[in-house]
Amino acid sequence: MRHLLGIEDLSREQIERILTTADAMLEISQREIKRVPTLRGRTVINVFLESSTRTRVSFEIAAKRLSADAINVSSAGSSLAKAETLTDMALNLAAMNADLLVVRDRTAGVPQMLSERVGVPVVNAGDGCHEHPTQALLDAFTALQSLGSLEGRVVAIVGDIAHSRVARSDIYAFTKLGAEVRVAGPASMIPLEVEALGVKSCRTIEEAFAGADVIVMLRIQRERIEGALFPSLREYSQTFGLDSATLRLAHPGAIVLHPGPINRGVEISPEVADAEPSRILDQVTNGVAVRMAVLYLLTGGGS
Ligand code: NCD
Repeated sequence: MRHLLGIEDLSREQIERILTTADAMLEISQREIKRVPTLRGRTVINVFLESSTRTRVSFEIAAKRLSADAINVSSAGSSLAKAETLTDMALNLAAMNADLLVVRDRTAGVPQMLSERVGVPVVNAGDGCHEHPTQALLDAFTALQSLGSLEGRVVAIVGDIAHSRVARSDIYAFTKLGAEVRVAGPASMIPLEVEALGVKSCRTIEEAFAGADVIVMLRIQRERIEGALFPSLREYSQTFGLDSATLRLAHPGAIVLHPGPINRGVEISPEVADAEPSRILDQVTNGVAVRMAVLYLLTGGGS
């Protein structure tokens, strides 16, 4: 594995290797001194050309906990404002002997394109509506913490499937790990060809939640939507929102995931987001461990 561009490219064994490595990394984050020398002298550059809090900070902390130098570049204030192309910018960053680039961009395919042009490993931190592989890995890791195995488990992903890169990466990750995946949302937010990905498309939240062990709620990706895709937010939340009443439709003991940022009262009610079945903050904790594992494996660790 030279780059991490999407879950679609990974085998089940590769996914499991990352998750097993993340188990060891999680322990480092629980120590009083949260730093090991593993990547000392390595340089990781985070190029985030789209808004991010969790993912950017998580990659930065992950690099630092492994003693790598982490540098952050955002579009504001970068030479992209001087009409430099992204490829030229990435080539220049790589020329400073960077060991790995983490890239988030609003256009699908940008991390892949850069991986073919700059001679260093590239990690996709979210590209348009395409993929967000480290999010899916941390989602799977978090589900496995509660369930032990995903074989035969039911995962319901609800919301804006069409514009969500998390949905695509989660579909690949959970199906590869043996789960049955269902999706639900307004018809305008369900891609026509979604069943070709091996998932069941459900018309209602009832159908999606029946017997579900894992519920993944998604934010409406307003930044990628032009015009209205449903009549009103109130109707959206009544039909596809998760609250304590709709949660009862799932398997008792079902866990709730959300990649964040959450829009309270839209796709998820505060009483569910802040209560026991929610693993939302565990996902954030685990995200650091999963990203440490990815940085370690891609910079030659364990090979
Ligand atoms: C997600 C993203 O950026 O795709 N957020 C994240 O990385 N945690 C989901 C979202 O923005 O809704």
